[in-house]
Amino acid sequence: MRDRLEALRRDGLAAVSESQDLDTLYGVESRLLGRTGALTAELKGLGKLLPEDRPVVGKLANEIKQALQGALDERRTAIEASELAADLAGEGLDPSLPGASAPKGGVHPVLAIARELEDLFSSMGYVVWDGPEIESEANNFDALNIPADHPAREGHDTIWMDVEKGSTRRCLRTHTSPVQVRALREFGAPLRVIAPGRVFRQEAQDATHDHTFHQMEGLVVDKGVGVPHMLHAMNSLLEGVFGRKLETRLRPGFFPFVEPGFELDARCPFCKEGCKVCKGSTWIELMPGGLVHPNVLTAAGLDPEEYSGFAFGLGLSRIAMLRYGINDIRWMMSGDLRFLEQFQA
Ligand code: DAH
Repeated sequence: MRDRLEALRRDGLAAVSESQDLDTLYGVESRLLGRTGALTAELKGLGKLLPEDRPVVGKLANEIKQALQGALDERRTAIEASELAADLAGEGLDPSLPGASAPKGGVHPVLAIARELEDLFSSMGYVVWDGPEIESEANNFDALNIPADHPAREGHDTIWMDVEKGSTRRCLRTHTSPVQVRALREFGAPLRVIAPGRVFRQEAQDATHDHTFHQMEGLVVDKGVGVPHMLHAMNSLLEGVFGRKLETRLRPGFFPFVEPGFELDARCPFCKEGCKVCKGSTWIELMPGGLVHPNVLTAAGLDPEEYSGFAFGLGLSRIAMLRYGINDIRWMMSGDLRFLEQFQA
């Protein structure tokens, strides 16, 4: 055993002094002194020696252990010093190496379009306004000329809040139209306003229906406002979203808060002879609107003999789906990173 220990010392010291870098040195160290290293194995064998031999051999083993440890430490210091010297003498810091980059966020497609439209309409003198997502029954329905027994109410699948005793009924707003009323009360007339925001309906979900989605309301009230003004605003909006003029047409449509009411269709931006998006018709229904109903003006404290106006309701979620080719509205509120990462800046 004595011979083996001496051999271990000789070979160990040689291996240490031959090590040129820290990795190699670390390997040598664990081979010699590690938990399963050679010297550790010898030390475990001490118990099998004759009792009178044990102290002598044990002392030798310890000596060797210390010698090896000392040599390892010394060599490590030397290697570190020479690596540092090489670094300092060499090319040094390379400022052209790419740095650590922070992950980039993106803008949600609905927010991206809302921001563009806010810029566009602001430039045309519109105020950007918003109302609360929990809205009174009065603002969501009554002031918009949708009385309690009106069938349009059922059409909205409203999510109602629990009613506390004595309080009026409140709901999650089913559309952005109540902001028409709020803005008129806030600013009076003349007024130009858009109101993008989140709306809610108790909807059976499918590819085109979600319980939470986005709309953008538009309202202009002034003296002598008519259908041509409405058409101009709608067409400017579509040009802003799709980057070019689209051919449009008006069809009659019914909404209690406008009279007359319309549906604006546009020539399908994706085809000439009919496709999946326009269901073969080359027209897609894009935006309802109309001239503000006198009852709405009256509810907002204005004289319908003096003022007139137009309003429109854009489905922001739907327009975002069209522009980006998104085939299922449920992606929008999914929070799914695989979806969102496609809109990174
Ligand atoms: N608020 C209607 C809805 O969500 C959409 C709408 C229709 C808004 C006609 C308008 C309008 O401003 O004039 O179904």
